[in-house]
Amino acid sequence: MIVTFTPSPSLDRAYDVTELAVGEVNRATGTHIHAGGKGINVSRALARHGVPTVAVLPTGGPDGDQLLIALGRQGVASRPVPVAGDTRSNVTLVSQDGVTTKINAPSPELSPDESRALIEAVEAEAAHGARWIVAAGSLPDGSGDLFARLGEVSRRRGIPLALDTSGAPLRDTLAAGGIALVKPNDDELAELVGADLQTVGDVRAAARELIAAGTGAVLVSLGSHGALLVVPDGCWWAGGAPLVPLSTVGAGDTTLAGYLSADGTPPERLRRAVAWGRAAVLMPGSDVPDPSRVDVAAVRVVDDPDPHLTLKEL
Ligand SMILES: Nc1ncnc2c1ncn2[C@@H]1O[C@H](COP(=O)(O)OP(=O)(O)OP(=O)(O)O)[C@@H](O)[C@H]1O
Ligand SMILES: [Mg+2]
Repeated sequence: MIVTFTPSPSLDRAYDVTELAVGEVNRATGTHIHAGGKGINVSRALARHGVPTVAVLPTGGPDGDQLLIALGRQGVASRPVPVAGDTRSNVTLVSQDGVTTKINAPSPELSPDESRALIEAVEAEAAHGARWIVAAGSLPDGSGDLFARLGEVSRRRGIPLALDTSGAPLRDTLAAGGIALVKPNDDELAELVGADLQTVGDVRAAARELIAAGTGAVLVSLGSHGALLVVPDGCWWAGGAPLVPLSTVGAGDTTLAGYLSADGTPPERLRRAVAWGRAAVLMPGSDVPDPSRVDVAAVRVVDDPDPHLTLKEL
C-alpha cells in the first residue's frame, strides 16, 4: 500500500469556453469538477492501476466535501483530516484552440494542531503495512516543516518517503535528511542547486550533490526528453519517440506513481516511470492512464548516458 499526503488539495473546476475574452462575460460550453493536488494525482494513477493507495488530505467547508465525493468517484480511498479553513478551488479555463488559463487559489492556513493531526493521520495509515509514503505539492502557510516532520515518521517507521515539491519546502525537507526518493523536474532541480542544467552531466552532478547530502535516489523528469535516475552507484536515462501531448498536466505525478508501483531494479523502475509519464500526456486534461495505455516496450533505457549530451539532444 502507498500512502500519499497532499497538504494543499483543491477542488479543481474546469470551464470550456469557445474563446476567452478578458473583461467580458464568457459563456462556458461545458464544466468539469475533479479532485486536484499532487499527492492525490499520484493516488489516482496508482488506483487506476489497481495498486492499493490511500490519500491523506486536509478538508474543510463545502468544497472539501465535494472534493471527497470526487475522489470517491475516481476510486481513490482517502483519509480526510477536517480543518477550519475552506478547501480551495482552482479554476481552469480551456478555450477551443487548446489554450489553458489557470487561476490557483491560496490554500487555507493550517494551525499547529491541524498540522499535527495530518502527520498522525499519515502515520496511522502507513502503519497498515505501507511500502511508501509520498509527500507532494506545495505547503500551506503555517505548516512550514510538515514534510520534514514526515521524514521523521518515515525514519521511525522504516518506511521510505518520496518527495515531490519545489522551492523552499524542497530545499528545507532535503536538508532535514532521510528522504529515500526525490522527483524534481529539471527546473526545480536547477533552482535547488542554483545551477544552469544544460547537459546530462549537469543534471547528474546536481543529483549526485543531493545524494552526497543523504538523499537515497533522485528521479529527474525532463519533460519531452524523458527522465534521468541517479542512485549512489548508478545513473540511467529513459525516454522514447516524440509524442504529440494532449495535456502535460500531472505527467510528473503519474511518472512518480509509475516508479513507486514497480518492484525490480532501478532501470526497470525508471522504464515503468517514463512509460506512465508518456501515457499521461496522451490523456486529456488531468486524466490518468489505465494499464492498457501504458507502453513499457516503447521506452528505451540507457545505462550511464553520455554526460556531454545536452538535454535537448535526448
Ligand atoms: N511533451 C512530452 N512528450 C513526451 N513525454 C512527455 C512530455 N512531457 C512530459 N512527458 C513525460 O512525462 C514525464 C514527466 O513530465 P515533466 O518532466 O514535465 O513533469 P513535471 O514538470 O513534474 O510535471 P507536473 O508537476 O505538472 O506533473 C516525463 O519524464 C516524460 O516521460
Ligand atoms: Mg512535478
